[in-house]
Amino acid sequence: MPEPLNIVVGVTGGIAAYKAVAVIRSLVLAGHDVHVVATDAALRFVGKPTLEAISRNTVNTDLYEGVAEVRHVAIGQAADLILIVPATANTIAKLANGIADDLLGNTVLASKAPVVIAPAMHTEMWQNAATAHNISVLEGRGVTVIGPASGQLTGADSGQGRMSEPEEIVAAALAVLRPKDLTGRRILITAGGTREALDPVRFIGNRSSGKQGVALACAAAERGAIVTLIGANLEVSVSATIRVEHVVSTLELADAVFAAAEEADVVIMAAAVSDYRPESVAESKIKKETQGERLTIELVKNPDILAGLADRRRDGQILVGFAAETERDADALLALGRAKIVRKGSDFLVLNRVGWSEGFATDGNSVIVLDGAGDIVMEASGSKTSVADRILDVLV
Ligand code: PMT
Repeated sequence: MPEPLNIVVGVTGGIAAYKAVAVIRSLVLAGHDVHVVATDAALRFVGKPTLEAISRNTVNTDLYEGVAEVRHVAIGQAADLILIVPATANTIAKLANGIADDLLGNTVLASKAPVVIAPAMHTEMWQNAATAHNISVLEGRGVTVIGPASGQLTGADSGQGRMSEPEEIVAAALAVLRPKDLTGRRILITAGGTREALDPVRFIGNRSSGKQGVALACAAAERGAIVTLIGANLEVSVSATIRVEHVVSTLELADAVFAAAEEADVVIMAAAVSDYRPESVAESKIKKETQGERLTIELVKNPDILAGLADRRRDGQILVGFAAETERDADALLALGRAKIVRKGSDFLVLNRVGWSEGFATDGNSVIVLDGAGDIVMEASGSKTSVADRILDVLV
């Protein structure tokens, strides 16, 4: 679990205010302390009781309430992050000009915390020269602007100006606080599970969704790394800012990894790779009518990509392997990890237990990181994103 942050969510008066509720909920569920500052106009779109129930804190609106506690500056001073969602054209104009005629304006002026805004308005308002100027002023001051996206607006019309989706806003806002300690590092990450074709319609595969590898790729990119992701049959979407090469089989993965590794400072093999593939692939669908009661498939060994990387590694290149083991006993699990890092020759090994409902395709993970000597250098449990950050901390 990351450290809880004090996040001020400013809600302003636009129809997209209803989506602010989802943003607040997601921040609260991630463990953060959320304080909503809503404008009067915002409360015409979404009720104070809703914002209070979801944020689990009192919602502040009035500049002249809490005067004895100097609330108009205290909220901003205590904030680690200010996120304004939605940010209307009017609020953007006021922020750009330092206007503080309401509690939100005072809160922003009184804060040293990073400010993130998610604009929402009609296309004409977004494209208006005044708004464009105000946005460039805010960006020049270091404010992070998320979106807006293109899509359906309030009515039947559509165009640019639609507020970005809540998950995207939350991820981008939290990314602002990530350290940029991997700036310029070239990191190659594999994710997902390889598939070995039996015939044109069937394959031998595994249950990897790609969540852990994609979480590593996103976290590394947000920390400044130049990320190349090689995805084997990913079941999760990847931010458009990350370069992804899609592969299917282990042989395709091997070709892609060996080519990309030549440029990489770090290679992280989070993909679940098939150790064997069918010796031959049938040209047409295998039919039970021609096979009878039993079907035997001959498998041949696939190359060990990680061990191959270790054989051809460049000076200073860091190799990170994963180990997916079903062993229940903690000491025996560790022994398997220690034996694996020696066999594979990587610098680090991320050991995770997998099972019917563990490791694969889940949102959380529990890992032990071993170094080349087999010593434990880190243990972490939590969301795959938080585990990814802890792994990257080790590499940093
Ligand atoms: O994708 P998710 O649903 O989020 O699940 C995440 C995960 C459980 C798949 C991931 O955390 C994980 O453990 N990935 C490694 C899975 C695996 O293949 O483990 P392994 O113990 O079989 O292989 C050890 C290492 O060698 C791995 O780094 C693997 O990528 C690599 N390998 C394996 C076989 C092979 N022929 N070549 C390889 O390079």
